[in-house]
Amino acid sequence: MRILLLTHAFNSLTQRLFVALQQDKHEVTIEFDINDETAQEAIDLFQPDLIVAPYLKRAIPDSIWQNHTCLIVHPGIVGDRGPSSLDWAIINREKTWGVTVLQANAEMDAGDIWASIEFEMRDATKASIYRNEVTTAAVQAVQQAIEHFKGSEFKPSPLKQKLLSAKGKLRPLMAQNVRRINWQKDDTETVLRKIRCADGFPGVRDELFGREVLIYDAHIAEGLRGKAGEVIAKSGLALCKATVDGAVWVGHVKDKSHHHAFKLPATVLFKEQCKDLYDAPTCEGYQEIRYEETHDVGYLHFPFYNGAMSTKQCQDLLAAYQDATQHNTKVIVLMGGADFWSNGIHLNMIEAAKSPADESWANINAMDDLSEAIIRTTSHIVISAMQGNVGAGGVFLARAADEVWAHEHVILNPHYKDMGNLYGSEYWTYLLPKYCGEDHAKRITQARLPMGVNEALDLGLLDAVIQGEKAGFIEVVKSKATALAQQDSIYATLQQKEVQRDQDEAEKALSAYREEELRRMKKNFYGFDPSYHVARYNFVYKVCKSRTPLTLAGHRNKARREMRRAA
Ligand code: COA
Repeated sequence: MRILLLTHAFNSLTQRLFVALQQDKHEVTIEFDINDETAQEAIDLFQPDLIVAPYLKRAIPDSIWQNHTCLIVHPGIVGDRGPSSLDWAIINREKTWGVTVLQANAEMDAGDIWASIEFEMRDATKASIYRNEVTTAAVQAVQQAIEHFKGSEFKPSPLKQKLLSAKGKLRPLMAQNVRRINWQKDDTETVLRKIRCADGFPGVRDELFGREVLIYDAHIAEGLRGKAGEVIAKSGLALCKATVDGAVWVGHVKDKSHHHAFKLPATVLFKEQCKDLYDAPTCEGYQEIRYEETHDVGYLHFPFYNGAMSTKQCQDLLAAYQDATQHNTKVIVLMGGADFWSNGIHLNMIEAAKSPADESWANINAMDDLSEAIIRTTSHIVISAMQGNVGAGGVFLARAADEVWAHEHVILNPHYKDMGNLYGSEYWTYLLPKYCGEDHAKRITQARLPMGVNEALDLGLLDAVIQGEKAGFIEVVKSKATALAQQDSIYATLQQKEVQRDQDEAEKALSAYREEELRRMKKNFYGFDPSYHVARYNFVYKVCKSRTPLTLAGHRNKARREMRRAA
């Protein structure tokens, strides 16, 4: 079937849907919802059988839904309507929530229902529930709706009929006055819930050191107490604010009036103000890196916010990694975080730096140091275990390990080019030919599209896919890693690894790969072509795209080709 994904952006849900529908052998193309004319143009060019809207910020124009079947993915249960579905579900402590696929009509979110799937809610941020439970349910619901659409018997249910029994209802946009934290009254659980239901967007408006900011990335601060509403401690990136019955860490902050009006670590934005604050020791602090060890296996968790890795975070992770290699274990598993394994260098920190070029240089070198340490490890088998998505440099950093395992729902974006034609480093020029082969390496670097785990497995970017519920992923990883560590053959494998590393080094030194990659990166950072700096600015400030990139808009590519042929 020919399916047009009409979407505000190519976000994580849209990427998963794109991969899944292609895997189901549909012809899928993407058009950003920029205005009525471009959407209509895409339809004229592609002549879709079906239009699916996974993520829209405005209603589909009458002229389109009146002439085509348009299915909207709504992140809410049957009957739920409005732009803040998940926010309300979190704040109202709903035990279950859902995704509904409904047909576009004259009233927003009120069309006939084609499919609906419910899931259990989890204590997590809105963004995390969206990327996981909502996305998985959305893919299933769209697949169901497509099956219904293919069959002639199915009649979608009118919402009015469903409303008689449905729990969902029309709810307004959640305003900041609903989100606002009353520090003198709200207990820790309520504070966390309020922040999580606005994380990643729009954040909760709050005050820090007398400045109005939006706050994100909240965690319970065990053992800390103080006067409710006051900032009482710092730890790494985060500031700690006391509540009536405890305290919370706030890791990230956005100050809309600041000249860097995007999300930054709290202690970076308030560097001066927090100088004299109590610096909490690691055991009671905001922990970004955590090491655990069982049955001869060391596990390094690094749930960096949004998967972005700054210079300092890379250095801290390198230190933790080096420390892990000194332990008397046989396997090290690099666990990343629950939502992201890594998204490469920290573009927000770079944008906020005095010299973004210098900071980019420092950041990529710190990434390379980490990648190199992993590649050079011969004392342990190293595994990258992806619970969540991975993008850009993060993919190649993961590939530095001996094996890469991923949960079945992981989406990989193994490309840098969208960031202003960034050349990339992390020793990818060594790693891709080694693990994927020359042909696949070329394919990977030329494509600018997200990839599902099956394709990544075929291409050699992954070595194993772990099926099943995401909640069980860590347990499966632990049992696989333990089994690996217990194998009698592990000493021979380690010996072989050392021999192979020496051979590779003799053929071409790692330092030569690094030098070549960094020479190209230097041009990206310091050269005449400002593309990388422009692309980074647009990314960090979330500048809306004014057209769909041709890599996504397959219909436009095809049209171009045909036009050229005709000329
Ligand atoms: N640095 C800083 N922030 C980053 C980041 C990075 N490298 N990668 C992602 N983020 C942030 C996004 O700004 C967004 O922030 P928000 O919470 O304010 O909305 C959040 O992480 C989620 O990213 P988003 O783009 O919405 O996720 P996605 O799943 O739709 O897309 C990627 C995933 C990886 C394709 C996309 O985030 C991306 O292109 N990131 C940049 C990767 C890159 O070029 N890194 C530098 C080269 S190594």
